[in-house]
Amino acid sequence: MFRAMKYSPGCLELIDQRQLPTQEIWVRATTLEEVAIAIETMVVRGAPAIGCAAGWGLALDAHLNHVNGTANDLWNAYKTRFLKNVDRLARTRPTAVNLFYALKRFQSLGEEIPNDTSMSKVAQRFLDLAQFLDDDDVRTCKSIGEHGASIFKSPVSGLTHCNTGSLATAGYGTALGIIRSMHSQKKLKSIFVDETRPYFQGARLTAFELLKDNIPYTLISDNMAGYAMQKGLVDFVVIGADRIANNGDTANKIGSYSLAVLCKYHQIPFIVAAPMSTVDIETLDGSKIPVEERPRVELLEVNGYRVAPSESKVWNPSFDVTPASLISYIVTEKGVHKPPFNFSQMRF
Ligand code: MRU
Repeated sequence: MFRAMKYSPGCLELIDQRQLPTQEIWVRATTLEEVAIAIETMVVRGAPAIGCAAGWGLALDAHLNHVNGTANDLWNAYKTRFLKNVDRLARTRPTAVNLFYALKRFQSLGEEIPNDTSMSKVAQRFLDLAQFLDDDDVRTCKSIGEHGASIFKSPVSGLTHCNTGSLATAGYGTALGIIRSMHSQKKLKSIFVDETRPYFQGARLTAFELLKDNIPYTLISDNMAGYAMQKGLVDFVVIGADRIANNGDTANKIGSYSLAVLCKYHQIPFIVAAPMSTVDIETLDGSKIPVEERPRVELLEVNGYRVAPSESKVWNPSFDVTPASLISYIVTEKGVHKPPFNFSQMRF
């Protein structure tokens, strides 16, 4: 299984997802600011992976403060810098709630630490939490994969959007985790991977991962999905999520909503796969989810090549929100949830 980030004391190495699939280049982030820039510029992307990278960034900075600080540096003296770090990371990408989940976990840990704790101990506790969040994400994804595969009894053909695999998580993947589990259980006939304009996460990243894992796939452009469904070639659609509101409304990569509408028309199950850390019970419905808008250049250029007049007015929302009424199942590590969704009322 591919791992897209590796931490060693003082350095977070990230595979540069902007260069895939043509080049496998690793970027070394050696400061918190470099981790924040790596998230902003999509060196690392995908909701769970963003949360894990933020965790490693906080562990990295605590380590640096410990090794570069004075021998008697204490948590109390570092706290202001820690809160600034949390604030900096919170401003990188607004939609993926896993980022805020990770930051909250660190803030809660910070509240537990007595003021006179040495920075060597704080650095160790930050490291342990970052490692826990990373390991937990892999365990969670495997469980999502198993639960998702249990929906199907015989081999079926699907379609997936964006990249939700090892690159987008700490490993294994959410929607792609379900695809992996189905493949290993011989429940997957075929999988369409759509390109996912404008950033091509499907074509560049999902195709790259499936090829590495010898899972056969067929690449299509986004506007071929309807025709594939009309021809009876798609039995289900599975996507990931960046934020799931309490009522099940789901923000995910732009184009997810169009697929959900197509599924409704063709009576095809539309499945959302995500860890519980993507469920934001404080956001009651999708209208409250902040949707990131990204730079115009992502539409004007493909790999540095201009494909539209530079004078064009451009709108580039990076996500859309699929209403819960269009979602057949939400699969988390806790199981397969069916509508009506009300996560704050759920008992596990
Ligand atoms: O802009 P991105 O590439 O970070 O968006 C990623 C997605 O929308 C994924 O589908 C989502 O984060 C789930 S990843 C397991």
